[in-house]
Amino acid sequence: MKLSLALLGLNAAYNAAIVSAAPVESWSTKSGASPSAVDMFNTAIEWNDKYWDDDAGYLIASSEGPGRYDSRHTAWYAPQLLARNGPGDVAKAIRIFDNVISGQYLDPSKQWYGDYQGAPSEPEPGTLVYPDDGPYSSWDPNVRDFVGCAWIVALNDYGHLLPAATVSKVEKSLHIAARGDLYRVGGVDGDNSYPCYSNPWLMRTILQNWVGARVGDANLTKSGEKFAQEIYDLWSMHHTLSEFNSPTYAGVAMWALALWNQYGTSDSLLKKYGPEMLTYSWEELGQLYNANLKNLAGPWDRSYGYNMNEYASLIGAVIWGAIGLEKAPVPKNLLAMYHQDDFAFYPLFALSTPEMVKYLPAKVKTNLLKFPGEHMYTSQAYSPPFDTYPRNITTWMSKNVTIGAETVAEHVVGGPSINPSQFTPAVIQWAIDDHQIGCISHWVTESSIHAVAAPGSLKISYPNATSTDGPVSFNFLFSGLDVNNGFNVTGLEGVPGLNVKLTTNALPNYTMTYNTDHSVNEFSFYNITYTMPKSFTGVPFVSLQIV
Ligand SMILES: *[C@@H]1O[C@H](CO)[C@@H](O)[C@H](O)[C@H]1NC(C)=O
Ligand SMILES: *[C@@H]1O[C@H](CO)[C@@H](O)[C@H](O)[C@H]1NC(C)=O
Ligand SMILES: *[C@@H]1O[C@H](CO)[C@@H](O)[C@H](O)[C@H]1NC(C)=O
Ligand SMILES: *[C@@H]1O[C@H](CO)[C@@H](O)[C@H](O)[C@H]1NC(C)=O
Ligand SMILES: *[C@@H]1O[C@H](CO)[C@@H](O)[C@H](O)[C@H]1NC(C)=O
Ligand SMILES: *[C@@H]1O[C@H](CO)[C@@H](O)[C@H](O)[C@H]1NC(C)=O
Ligand SMILES: *[C@@H]1O[C@H](CO)[C@@H](O)[C@H](O)[C@H]1NC(C)=O
Repeated sequence: MKLSLALLGLNAAYNAAIVSAAPVESWSTKSGASPSAVDMFNTAIEWNDKYWDDDAGYLIASSEGPGRYDSRHTAWYAPQLLARNGPGDVAKAIRIFDNVISGQYLDPSKQWYGDYQGAPSEPEPGTLVYPDDGPYSSWDPNVRDFVGCAWIVALNDYGHLLPAATVSKVEKSLHIAARGDLYRVGGVDGDNSYPCYSNPWLMRTILQNWVGARVGDANLTKSGEKFAQEIYDLWSMHHTLSEFNSPTYAGVAMWALALWNQYGTSDSLLKKYGPEMLTYSWEELGQLYNANLKNLAGPWDRSYGYNMNEYASLIGAVIWGAIGLEKAPVPKNLLAMYHQDDFAFYPLFALSTPEMVKYLPAKVKTNLLKFPGEHMYTSQAYSPPFDTYPRNITTWMSKNVTIGAETVAEHVVGGPSINPSQFTPAVIQWAIDDHQIGCISHWVTESSIHAVAAPGSLKISYPNATSTDGPVSFNFLFSGLDVNNGFNVTGLEGVPGLNVKLTTNALPNYTMTYNTDHSVNEFSFYNITYTMPKSFTGVPFVSLQIV
C-alpha cells in the first residue's frame, strides 16, 4: 500500500513536469508578495546558496564562527528552501533538519538543554576542552529562539511539503527547545533573559505560544501569554522597546512581532498586542530614519557598524521589503559588506514582509522614501534591571546631519549587553560628500552618561564619573572617510564635511590615532580621546556645536 502510494506520487510529479513544465509552486507565486519582497528573497537566498556545502549538508560560515559551518544559518535556510521549493530544495531542507537536530543538546540537567550547536564541529559544552563560562560562552542561549522561530515558519507554512516523519521530528525538537528556553530566568546562573532584552524575548514569546498550541503543552502556552504581558507592560511605559533603535535588533524585533501576528494563536495576547507594537515600531523608524543619508540616526542601544550602507543590518531588510533595494540602507556590493552574517536572515524577512507592511502607516512609508525635513525626536526607553531610571532620548534630524543621544545611568558600562562596541549613546552622522557618510560616535567608558542632542549640538557629561582604570576620558571614534583624497583629519574640529566647534573642561591636548585592527565592528576609525586633568573634581563635559 505504502509503496504504491509513493509510486503514484512520483508518477504524478513526473507527469506534471512533462505536461506543463511549470515551476513547482513557490512562495513568491502564491503569496501576493510585493516585487521588493520577492527581489529580497531571491537575492538573499541565492547568496545563501553559494555557502551551501552539499557534502556536509550545512552552510559554510560567512565570517568567524565556532566552526567551519554555521548551524544557525543552516537552520534559517531550511524554511527558505521550502518556500522556494525549486528542484532539490525540499530534499536539502530535510537534510538540514536532520543535521541541525542531531546537534541539539538533550540533557535536561544542563542549562543549555534544548539549545542547538553553533557549529557541527563543536564539542559538548561544559567539558574541559570547551568549558561552560555561562551563556554566550560555549553555547548561545538565543540560538533556541532563532532556530525555533525559523522552524515555526517551516512547519506552519510548508509542513505539507515534508514527510510526516520529518514533521514530527521537527515538532519534537521544537518542544525540547521551548522547554529548554524556560530554563532561562534573568539574573539566575548568568542568564540575561529579561523583558528588556527585547529581541530574544519577543522570539521566545512566539516560540512558547506556537509550540504550546502545536504539541498541546499548556505550560508553554501559558508561558507565551505571561511573556507577552511582561514585555507589553514594559513597552507600554514609553511605547518603545527597551533595546531601543538598534539597526540590527530593532529589525529582529519587527520580524518577531510579525510572527506574533502571523502565527500567534487566535485568542492570545500576542495577537492582541502585536499589531500595536509593530505599528509603533514603524512610527519610530519613520522619525529616526534619514532617507538622504540612508541611515538610522542615533542613539543606538546596540549597533554593529557606523554606516548601514556598508554593513548588513536587519532594519535594512525591513526597509528593503517595504520600499525596494534602491532606496534601502543595504550595501550595494554584497561581496564587500561588513557584518555579512545577518544577510543569511534576509529571506525570512522577505517572507514576513507582507505581514510587516500591513502595519506600515502611509506617512512613514513616505518618510522612508524622502526625508521629511528638519525635526527633533524625543522619547524614553527603560531597561530594568540595568537602568537606574528610564533613559532620555533626544535626536536632531536634518537634511544631511543627524545627532542622536541618550542620558543613561546603568549598573554596567556598555549597556545591558555590556559591550562598548555595540552601545552607542551619542552619535553624529553626516554627508561628507555625495557618497560618504561620516560618523562620530562616543565610545563609552562610564556607566553614567548625560548626553543630549539639540539642533546642531551634542552635549556629553559625566555626572557621576567613576572610571577607576585610568583617568576619566571622552573617547570618540570618527569613521567614514573611505577615500581621504589628501584630507588631513586633525581632530573633532578637523573632520571632513562638518564644521565642529568643541568646548570642554578636559585637557586641550587630545590624542588621536588611526586604528586598523578591525576590533570595533570591523571598521577602521580615528580614535580621538580627551582626558580630564588628574586632580579634576567637577562634572567633566564635552560639547560639540555644528557651525
Ligand atoms: C512551566 O513554565 C514555567 C515558566 O513559565 C517554568 O518555570 C516551569 O518549570 C514549567 N513547568 C514545567 C512542568 O515545565
Ligand atoms: C528625562 O526627561 C524627563 C521628562 O522631560 C525628566 O523629567 C527627567 O528628569 C529626565 N531625566 C534625566 C535623567 O535627564
Ligand atoms: C549639507 O547641508 C548644508 C546646509 O544646507 C550645505 O551647506 C552642505 O553643502 C551640505 N553638504 C552636503 C555634503 O550635502
Ligand atoms: C554614582 O556611582 C556610584 C558608584 O558606581 C553609585 O553607587 C551611585 O549610585 C551613583 N550615583 C548616581 C547619582 O548615579
Ligand atoms: C596634518 O595636520 C597636522 C596638525 O595640524 C599637521 O601637523 C600635519 O603637518 C598635517 N599634515 C599634512 C600632510 O598636511
Ligand atoms: C597633556 O598636557 C598635560 C598637562 O600639560 C600633560 O600632563 C599630559 O601628559 C599631556 N597629554 C598628552 C597626551 O600629551
Ligand atoms: C582610544 O584611545 C584611548 C587612548 O589611547 C584608549 O584608552 C582607548 O581604549 C581607545 N579606544 C578604542 C575603541 O580603541
